[in-house]
Amino acid sequence: MNAPIGIFDSGIGGLTVAKALVERLPRESLYYVGDTAHMPYGDKSVDSLKEYAAGISKRFVDAGCKAVVVACNSASSNALDTVKAAMGAHVPVIDVVQPVVNWVAQYHSGKQVALVGTRATVDSGIYQAKLAEANVGTKVRATPLLASAIEEGFHNGTISEAVVNAYFADQWTAGTTALILACTHYPLAMDKIIEMLNEPLNVVDGPAIVADALAEALAHLGLGAPEDSPLGRHRFEVTDWTGSFAQGAKHIMQSDLNLQEVGWTSP
Ligand code: DGL
Repeated sequence: MNAPIGIFDSGIGGLTVAKALVERLPRESLYYVGDTAHMPYGDKSVDSLKEYAAGISKRFVDAGCKAVVVACNSASSNALDTVKAAMGAHVPVIDVVQPVVNWVAQYHSGKQVALVGTRATVDSGIYQAKLAEANVGTKVRATPLLASAIEEGFHNGTISEAVVNAYFADQWTAGTTALILACTHYPLAMDKIIEMLNEPLNVVDGPAIVADALAEALAHLGLGAPEDSPLGRHRFEVTDWTGSFAQGAKHIMQSDLNLQEVGWTSP
């Protein structure tokens, strides 16, 4: 069988990326880990994020993953080197920051963009620094409650709606030309965010951009599934069973997943 692509996040957020990958690369098989035992990642220290990333990478190594997608901005911003070191130089590791920065640099150079993310992402300063290098200004706000609210309640909307209201109602994004949702959970609340904004903003489609970056890397390295191979078969694991993950995953992937709880093992 064609080797799988490892993909992880703290919870359901990375499934927004997984969905884009399945649409873009239907013949690839995914091995998804939702590290629900440690959700939310956004409030964790850099050391903890590195430890979680190392533990999950070990699973990907054991499963023979041919590529990895760090489908989490908090981990991409703080623990990318850990994943790369664990996987080894022969395994391409795609993060969710650089492809989005490249895209924004291409279309918004000389402009100012708004960005929301977890504390871990915003405090790392990685987007601000990379975008400044590309001559893109940033207005940034940490929105720490949003990922947990979405993980818990995006499907009925009431909790995430209240949180979106608290973070966007003051219209601080005014004057920017695009909005980067720098947390993979946030696309699930995108409609609510757009509704809240007085000025329409171009919301950057991170999952699709990341799927393109993976497709390009696989093609470049000759690692893509052959054209005549069957559709990919996916494996979904969580480190702690949560009803919200199970429900959310079904909603996002629009199918029943054979979800396995595997527990957490340290690296
Ligand atoms: N979805 C993740 C991110 O992109 C993590 C959110 C969280 O667990 O705080 O940052």
